[in-house]
Amino acid sequence: MFGTHYRLERRSIRFVLAIVFVASIGGLFEIAPLFTIDETVEVDPDMRVYTPLEIAGRNIYIREGCYACHTQMIRTLRDEVERYGHYSLAVESQYDHPMLWGSKRTGPDIARLGGKYSDDWHVAHLDNPRDVVPESVMPAYRWLLRNELRTDDLGGQLLALRRVGVPYSDEMIANAPADARAQANADDPGAEDVAARYGEATNIRAFDGDAGRLTEMDALVAYLQILGRLSDAAGKQAAAGEVAQ
Ligand code: HEC
Repeated sequence: MFGTHYRLERRSIRFVLAIVFVASIGGLFEIAPLFTIDETVEVDPDMRVYTPLEIAGRNIYIREGCYACHTQMIRTLRDEVERYGHYSLAVESQYDHPMLWGSKRTGPDIARLGGKYSDDWHVAHLDNPRDVVPESVMPAYRWLLRNELRTDDLGGQLLALRRVGVPYSDEMIANAPADARAQANADDPGAEDVAARYGEATNIRAFDGDAGRLTEMDALVAYLQILGRLSDAAGKQAAAGEVAQ
C-alpha cells in the first residue's frame, strides 16, 4: 500500500488528480441530496409563522443555551418515534433561522412539546425544575419571572426574518411590540388583532399566570407551547399512513 503511495507522490500531476477525485466523492455526497430538495421538503400552505412573542421566547431559548441540552429533531428511528411522536419533517423548521435541531440530549427532545404540559407546569419547572421533577439536573431560570420582556426590538427581528424568507407582512412588523403585549393578555384590546393576523389557533393568554406584567417567562412559555404546532404536515402524513395500511 505504501509502495503505491510513494510511486504516486513522485508523479505530482497524477497525485493532484487522485486528490481531486477522492475529495470530490465527499463533495458529491454533500451536493447530491440538493438535486432532489424540491421533492424532499414537504409543502404546507397552512404553515403558520411565529408571533412576535414566540420569536422573543425563541431568542431567550437561544440566549439561555437551552439547545445545548435539548434537541428539536425527532429522528426516523423507531424508539424516538414511539417516545416523541412523528419524526420531524423538513417543512416544520422552514421558518427557523437559525435552526435549533441541536446535537446533544441531556434532557429530552422537545420538537413536539406544545400542549404536553400546562403553562403552570412550565412556569414552575423553569423557575426551579426540582420543584416538579425531583431528580432533574436542569438548571433553574429564576430570572425569567422577574425580567420584564423587551419588546421595542421585535419589529426589527421580524424584518430581519422576512429578509431570509419568512412571510411577515408590513402590518405584522409595524405592530410587533403591541402584538407581543396583547398575546400575553386576553383582555388586551389588541388580542383580537393578534388572532386575525396570526390565525385563530394562536394561543392568547397570560402564560406566566399574571396578565398585568409581560415577562420573559411569558415569551419562553408561549414559544414552548407552540413547538410542533406551526404545521400539521406530520399529522396529515400520519393519518395518510394509517389509511394506507
Ligand atoms: C444542563 C442541561 C439542560 C439545560 C441547559 C436545559 N435543560 Fe431542560 N431538561 C434537562 C433535563 C435533564 C430534563 C429532564 C428532567 C426534567 O424534566 O427536568 C429537562 C426537561 C425539560 C423539559 C420537559 C420536557 C418533557 O418533555 O418532559 C422542558 C420543557 C425543558 N427542559 C425546557 C428547557 C428550557 C426552555 C431550557 C432553557 C431555558 C432548558 N430546558 C435548559 C436538561 C437541561
